[in-house]
Amino acid sequence: MDQAEWDERYGAREPVWSGRANATLVAQVSGLAPGRALEAAAGEGADAIWLAEHGWRVTALDFSAVGLARAEAAATERGLGEAIRWVHADLLDWAPDEPPYDLVTSHYLHLASEPRNRIYATLAAAVAPGGRLLIVGHHPSDLEVGVGRPSDPDRYFTAEQLAADLGAGWTVEQALAAPRPATHPEGHEVTIRDTVLLARRD
Ligand SMILES: C[S@@+](CC[C@H](N)C(=O)[O-])C[C@H]1O[C@@H](n2cnc3c(N)ncnc32)[C@H](O)[C@@H]1O
Repeated sequence: MDQAEWDERYGAREPVWSGRANATLVAQVSGLAPGRALEAAAGEGADAIWLAEHGWRVTALDFSAVGLARAEAAATERGLGEAIRWVHADLLDWAPDEPPYDLVTSHYLHLASEPRNRIYATLAAAVAPGGRLLIVGHHPSDLEVGVGRPSDPDRYFTAEQLAADLGAGWTVEQALAAPRPATHPEGHEVTIRDTVLLARRD
């Protein structure tokens, strides 16, 4: 989906996402000392809000102005309007304009491998020494489960692929195909998986 399509989706009356922070973010970040965080592809802002509520100084980026407006309104409702810096930018041509971050995170950004690999390299380069990169996505095995995801396999990636692309200078702390329950469109319960990479820059 391009920027206009995301704007249209976020312009609908109902929220697109649950309003709750992604469970993987909560699980992987809860034990870390808060610092400066970048959230890329922030959507309606639940992860950015959770980070700010847990002491992180957050920059949240998305190319949907409509999504960001929703996110900012939700943050303001919680008294966090000033705590999060909202950046309207396309990751295709974004470059960091702040010092490196203690945490760079992105959830469910499913672009084709080019430009995805280039974007993840840019996000990795924005991590400070000793800081962490957390990337989460739908695992390629979900394509066999039939839960209505886009069918292009090029848009899916494993933690092992992400770790290999990072190369030297990183310690991989988590490389998972983490299972979680979901409901199949036909009504029965299935197990889907999330790709989870948590890596610490040496
Ligand atoms: C599936 S949503 C995930 C939102 C959020 N991370 C979450 O987990 O709820 C993908 C998000 O990526 C954003 N996005 C997609 N391509 C982008 C790009 N090239 N630059 C910036 N944001 C992008 C969309 O606007 C959308 O908010």
